[in-house]
Amino acid sequence: MLITNIKGLVGVHPKEKLVLRGSEMANLPVLENAWLLLEDGLIKDFGLMNDIPPSILHLPSVDAEGKFVFPSWCDSHTHIVFAAPREEEFVMKIAGKTYEDIAAAGGGILNSAHKLQQASEDELFESASLRLKDMIKQGTGAVEIKSGYGLTIESELKMLRVIQRLKQVFPIPIKATFLAAHTYPTEYKSNHQGYIDLIINKMLPAVAKEKLADYIDVFCEKGFFSVSETDEILSAAAKYGLKPKIHANQLSVSDGVQIGVKHQAISVDHLEETDDEVLSVLANSNTIATLLPSCSFYLNIPFANARGLLNSNATVALATDYNPGSTPSGNMNFVVSLACIKLKMLPEEAINASTLNGAAAMELSREMGSITIGKKANLFITRAMSSLAFLPYSFGQLQIETVILNGEIYNG
Ligand code: NIG
Ligand code: FE
Repeated sequence: MLITNIKGLVGVHPKEKLVLRGSEMANLPVLENAWLLLEDGLIKDFGLMNDIPPSILHLPSVDAEGKFVFPSWCDSHTHIVFAAPREEEFVMKIAGKTYEDIAAAGGGILNSAHKLQQASEDELFESASLRLKDMIKQGTGAVEIKSGYGLTIESELKMLRVIQRLKQVFPIPIKATFLAAHTYPTEYKSNHQGYIDLIINKMLPAVAKEKLADYIDVFCEKGFFSVSETDEILSAAAKYGLKPKIHANQLSVSDGVQIGVKHQAISVDHLEETDDEVLSVLANSNTIATLLPSCSFYLNIPFANARGLLNSNATVALATDYNPGSTPSGNMNFVVSLACIKLKMLPEEAINASTLNGAAAMELSREMGSITIGKKANLFITRAMSSLAFLPYSFGQLQIETVILNGEIYNG
């Protein structure tokens, strides 16, 4: 397929650029008045319309006059396998309850776990598929999905098998993360070590045996998993080759970021509570800071200090955190808008954070995240737009007109 007359071909990064840090993130190469050739599911070539080779002019083509072509969003943090939404908690929040209040009252993650334990694998697969289709229509072309609403060996495996089925059926790269350490099940409320032992001695070996996970995650947070408990779980997971992507500093300052970096985490995610130590630890590390501004928006909690991270030369990615409790939305376009409006990221920084760095946060940046010859032809064409910044500026309004996956138009 040939795309012609493209107003702006966005994210034309060189092949060797696999991740961007600090001030590099403001550099988003855009080719104006361009063509793009897709072949065998990959990006084959591109160039300026003035120099388009006559030999390709006969190919079936899409005219993108006035429009921009973006590499697909790479959403590196989601929890889209769940049994039911939790809009009753939404109403409790409006009436003044906090996320912690709701969790302490048996809501929150335990509420989702209870419902997921009752649901069949097929039901979970169907509902997660619908969510994933919506996300794809909104421009997402690679995704990470976590377990963590099972909290028993059977249900954690059930969730991971659902993710495995999604991997087999959907035309986009999917990574699976094992998050049994999401909260303590009620029966282990006063026996934390008992649950950690279950994770380490029973769940991890079973997950590894079936090769159901790419990464390990822990919700390192006051009232959830402590820093030393996180350390113990990450050490055990390392024996199975599972690298960490962890939840840290969402509701309070802890040493979650430090423990993640100690274990060479791919990413530490959330960081709504970004203290100076977080900045200095991430300044000198390859661990990616993954920010989730739609979670801050929905929970009414602070927004992460993105400018501090960028000024400290950290690597920043953006993701949705799509889940029924803290972020019931998988719309990366809204995340990019919020990143500009609330995190004070420039459109170029926010787009890089949602494409190349999002891919890096799933170890996918050799195949995804930019318009680079040889990468997967997962991309989207916008409506006609006055400029690149129009996409985040027009928050809440979908500017995507055509989604292309593996070089073919997606009609999902
Ligand atoms: O990333 N923080 C922990 N996990 C999710 C929320 C889970 C839930 O409330 O169901 C998050 O925000
Ligand atoms: Fe999360």
